[in-house]
Amino acid sequence: MDKVIIFDTTLRDGEQAAGGTLNNREKLEIARQLEKLGVDVIEAGTPVNSHAEFEAVSLIAREVRKPIICGLARAVPEDIDRAGEALKDAERSRIHVFLSSSDVHLVYQLKKSRQEILEQAREMVARAKKYVDDVEFSPMDASRTDPEYIYQILRAVIDAGATTVNIPDTVGYATPHEFGALIEGIFKNVSNISKAVVSVHCHNDLGMAVANSLESLRHGVRQIECTINGIGERAGNAALEEVVMAIKTRPDFFNLTTNIDTTQIYRTSRMVSELTGFPVQPNKAIVGANAFRHESGIHQDGIIKMPITYEIIEPQSVGIPSSSLVLGKLSGRHAFRERLAELGYNLSSDDFSRAFTSFKELAEKKKEITDKDIESLVAEEQRTISEFYHLDRLQVTCGDRGIPTAAVRLTGPDGQVKEDAALGTGPVDAVYKAINRIVGVPNVLTEFSVNSVTEGIDAIGEVLIRIESGGVTYTGRGANTDVIVASGKAYINALNRLLSAQKNHSAA
Ligand code: KIV
Ligand code: ZN
Repeated sequence: MDKVIIFDTTLRDGEQAAGGTLNNREKLEIARQLEKLGVDVIEAGTPVNSHAEFEAVSLIAREVRKPIICGLARAVPEDIDRAGEALKDAERSRIHVFLSSSDVHLVYQLKKSRQEILEQAREMVARAKKYVDDVEFSPMDASRTDPEYIYQILRAVIDAGATTVNIPDTVGYATPHEFGALIEGIFKNVSNISKAVVSVHCHNDLGMAVANSLESLRHGVRQIECTINGIGERAGNAALEEVVMAIKTRPDFFNLTTNIDTTQIYRTSRMVSELTGFPVQPNKAIVGANAFRHESGIHQDGIIKMPITYEIIEPQSVGIPSSSLVLGKLSGRHAFRERLAELGYNLSSDDFSRAFTSFKELAEKKKEITDKDIESLVAEEQRTISEFYHLDRLQVTCGDRGIPTAAVRLTGPDGQVKEDAALGTGPVDAVYKAINRIVGVPNVLTEFSVNSVTEGIDAIGEVLIRIESGGVTYTGRGANTDVIVASGKAYINALNRLLSAQKNHSAA
């Protein structure tokens, strides 16, 4: 069976999703998990974007050795040079150069002729080739480009040294039939196509990203660009877990294989959801909470008699734990470490000690600690690393009499302790106003939600918020058995991301 190369762009296109920013430590954690998952290529970011993104790509290039580490670059010298520099310590590296090819982009955005674009593509692939052997080229908005012009560009960039040519459905416009025909045309009309791997990159604006990606395989494509949980720009990208499980579940149809260790899928999905702050919808294929739950009596009866009656995938094959092992206050460091490893976390000894302390504190309040609790507390610990402001203390008075009041104590960037208090319409409003009096960064709260991590009255409450400042959305998350404390932590988390972005911006 032919192998399909799985190119993961969670850390680049996925992170481009509004409000999905990750810090470098979180990116490294995800990259390590992607390596365990067995992806062939990790697109780690666009090094020219900012100092922090350059650092993230370099860090992943140094630390994650098995997959190819890829840096994205517009087809301009500065981007390519920065990508080359960021990738210099990688075991195996790739530069991914992209340039728009559709008339609508050429006329309204780039204001260049087809000939100029063709020359630019050729020159910039040749430039990338000076840094790495492995160069990928994407004609952006390919699905809305005149196919004859795509053939011309592909011929030119393959002659210039491109080893992968990627066909993006940038705006998620194509239907499977059309997209398949485009790929078929490429194989028929690009004379040197056998010298490159043909790849696709499909967006989900019309909900067809996975269908388009799978259809392209039938016409000879051997690399699929995708993201965990399908996150990405606007409606997102093709979901890695759906593409991979379709190939694995239907060998009779595709007759293809991948390098993915599917038992790592669930862990990776949970980690990406936790760290980006994007929840997974319950009915999401493969990784949603209901994906393997059978509600109807007839279905339950069938499952008991023989699972294949209504189950086409075994939950264990995607790493969904068959029985959730529960830890408690008597569990020691060893049991906690083993559980973390099983959940896919690889913490440094300092991070482990901090997580273990939080685990013990939680075990004093909550009888049974499940995997979801552990994921939540590890994510909470990671959020508090390298903070500008840290929430030390928070106290509120509220109820149906009197005015809600909050007092907060924060440790600031210079280590200085600052305290303040405020009144509000409710306890969360009072906490946010008290924090604003200290931090003083204008922003608007655009989203606020609370979820309980597990069932039960003693459950951890997870608060997810989004704030907007200067046209950019920042996500914040906080977890605690007290939802007001979780709300305060979520706000501090979002403010820290905002301040970090401002710092990177001024450093760039
Ligand atoms: O959607 C797109 O066209 C992209 C390119 C950079 C490949 O993300
Ligand atoms: Zn994209």
